[in-house]
Amino acid sequence: MDDKFKELKEKREKIKLGGGQKRIDKQHDKGKYTARERIDMLLDDGSFQEIGMFVKHRVGDLGLDEKEIPGEGVVTGRGTINGRNIFVFAQDFTAMGGSLGEMHAKKIWKIMDLAEKAGAPLIGLNDSGGARIQEGVHSLSGYGGIFYRNSRNSGVIPQLSVILGPCAGGAVYSPALTDFIFMVDKTSKMFITGPQVIKSVTGEEVSAEDLGGGMAHNQFSGVAHFLDDNEDACFDRIKKLLSFIPDNNMQSPPFKETSDPLDRTEEVLRTTVPESPNKAYDIRDVIELVVDDKDFLEVQPYFAANVVVGFARLGGHSVGIIANQPKVKAGCLDIDSSDKAARFIRFCDSFNIPLLTLTDVPGYLPGVEQEHGGVIRHGAKLLYSYSEATVPKLNVILRKAYGGAYIAMSSSHLGGDYVFAWPQAEIAVMGPQGAANIIYRKEIKNADNPEEVRQEKIDEYRESFANPYQAAAQGFVDDVILPENTRPELIRALESIKEKKDELPDKKHGNFPV
Ligand code: HXC
Repeated sequence: MDDKFKELKEKREKIKLGGGQKRIDKQHDKGKYTARERIDMLLDDGSFQEIGMFVKHRVGDLGLDEKEIPGEGVVTGRGTINGRNIFVFAQDFTAMGGSLGEMHAKKIWKIMDLAEKAGAPLIGLNDSGGARIQEGVHSLSGYGGIFYRNSRNSGVIPQLSVILGPCAGGAVYSPALTDFIFMVDKTSKMFITGPQVIKSVTGEEVSAEDLGGGMAHNQFSGVAHFLDDNEDACFDRIKKLLSFIPDNNMQSPPFKETSDPLDRTEEVLRTTVPESPNKAYDIRDVIELVVDDKDFLEVQPYFAANVVVGFARLGGHSVGIIANQPKVKAGCLDIDSSDKAARFIRFCDSFNIPLLTLTDVPGYLPGVEQEHGGVIRHGAKLLYSYSEATVPKLNVILRKAYGGAYIAMSSSHLGGDYVFAWPQAEIAVMGPQGAANIIYRKEIKNADNPEEVRQEKIDEYRESFANPYQAAAQGFVDDVILPENTRPELIRALESIKEKKDELPDKKHGNFPV
């Protein structure tokens, strides 16, 4: 018997060494951790329970039968993060480049199925050369099965993808089907076709970093959600994100007791937002003054920065915040910001996280590029997402709320539960200048002193329309509140509807305007 126990120990030790010390050293030289080191860093000490360590490939083409691929190039199992059950896979680049063959994929399928049945988040640590070329269609079938499970598990358990090396071809589509993508600067790469293929097809020359590096996907494509300088910081951010979200769609998000007074008022909010509707400010200053302990985890901070989205807490309850950012493009809505906000709203709604909207929006961005780029279709996503969301929906109109953008930003018309406005809010079809120029065009043109008349009409319009009281008179705004009282008012409102029950009509699923 002792021999058998010894054999088990030796087998385990060999597999744990992955592709061997030389390849591990190479991985470290690139500033990367190995798959097992990553799992150890991510999970609570000693909590990792490995599944499928002895799985082997069974395809014998192109000399693969002679190759040993320890652990099939992927480490899979479960463990805990801050005591919460988590399923995880980590591709092992030291073992045949972490390439994905049939059995490698089946190890991942197993973890995905267990995560779904257990109702626990799934975290994928991706570091792979993509489809294992020698396995042909077997590896394609492997990817297909992962995409299928990603899609079916969407909205059931949170799925997080961490890109910690190359991620090419079909390998990028599993992350794209998950809820959040984390990247590490200079380490992560994602593309459908790499620089060499691009050069041969289109003649364009681009480095892998510029094409699919961390900044490329965090700032330009909007594919990724978080960017960190190194793997350690990336793992800390994953843990932070998990602190705001529940394990599955049947649970409420974790409650976190706060010492931040629930009735804290903030006089400074009277001046944080400038009186002039044309002056810029940073909406994140408002967010930090309102939420618990100034603690705000921004999602996609580099992409479509004219809208800010992220997680915070109010009185201990997680909320998803969607806010216009007047500092960037005056906080207008456009194609990218609509996509960004809509996807975030749908995540929150799937996982029972109430929405807090902070509105200061001049409208949709005009322009041929926007119209031909499909701003109608993309803007519709925001309307759809807010309307479809059944979680508690709170909104504070801080300053401007004009036209279609007013409706889109969690208005009462789209099922907003509480809409507050500050006294300086301007809720109207359009801003005073635009409105006066249209309605009084002839009068201004024919006047002896057109500029004086224009200003008169602008002031007149502002006085009668650009305020919160017309909307409040109709019940479209539930209350006009002093800026300093925003936090206590929001917490009381959230407490009153946190158990809200609201169901959509029976349907298979809606036809979201993708
Ligand atoms: C088999 C692979 C592999 C792959 C890497 N390896 N990718 N083996 N299939 N896809 C092996 C290498 O042969 C090498 O083995 C080891 O992994 C490490 O790779 P290196 O090339 O030495 O590493 P590096 O220089 O860091 O380059 C990494 C890389 C490069 C950029 C990822 O390996 C590469 O370009 N690989 C191919 C990428 C690719 O085209 N994949 C297919 C995408 S198409 P040894 O034994 O020498 O250590 C796709 C379709 C899926 O994924 C569609 C699904 C719908």
